[in-house]
Amino acid sequence: MHSRPAGYTRAQIVLHWVIAALVIFQIIFGEDIGPAFRAFRKGTEPAADALLSANIHVYVGLTVLVLAVLRMALRLRYGAPDLPPDEKMVMRYVAGLAHLVLYAAIFLMPLTGALAWYLGMGEIGEIHEIGKPIIIVVVAVHAAGALWQHFVARTDVLRRMLKPAA
Ligand code: HEM
Ligand code: HEM
Repeated sequence: MHSRPAGYTRAQIVLHWVIAALVIFQIIFGEDIGPAFRAFRKGTEPAADALLSANIHVYVGLTVLVLAVLRMALRLRYGAPDLPPDEKMVMRYVAGLAHLVLYAAIFLMPLTGALAWYLGMGEIGEIHEIGKPIIIVVVAVHAAGALWQHFVARTDVLRRMLKPAA
């Protein structure tokens, strides 16, 4: 096994924060696609403003998918730094599980959304909706972990997601 890098590259960091901002935007405003989606499913024409809101959700979401592919490519190429050496095993699992769910979310949310939207698959839309509470809980745990590392444990874990490794 090759050794882990000392930190993230600038591109990895920019992608982390741009994706985070877009995902939070989607979570806050996601319901705005509802009226247009319901109109299409009933076979009626959505109002112009409903269609605009829907298009914003669709294109912001598809942007997340493109950035997620880029991000995964960089992750495979450069890897990620290890947690502080004295980090408890259980915390390593919690952090690792949160990262896994978040990576899954940035691929599966756009994919399930696209199946619902373009193919009118209502059941997939319901699966897509379940993503919302899951993401809220996992991002809360993830962000709390980052802040705890910084302010309580006083490690460089948050700093290395803000400043590239030299
Ligand atoms: C929807 C929002 C977010 C998503 C999808 C997300 C996703 C991720 C993922 C997948 C990783 C693992 C990186 C890797 O190992 O390749 C990561 C790392 C990290 N995230 Fe987030 N994140 C989000 C929001 C946040 C927020 C709000 C904070 C801070 C308050 C934060 C702080 C961090 C830090 C500090 C790391 C580095 C952890 C380490 O180096 O061990 N993230 N994030
Ligand atoms: C990061 C990507 C995405 C996130 C985080 C996200 C999040 C959300 C959220 C929070 C909702 C509202 C759920 C509710 O009403 O309880 C929603 C609904 C919806 N989204 Fe997304 N979305 C993403 C990408 C997409 C994409 C790319 C499309 C289409 C191409 C899409 C299509 C839909 C549809 C059709 C609904 C309505 C589902 C229904 O009412 O049954 N989403 N999304």
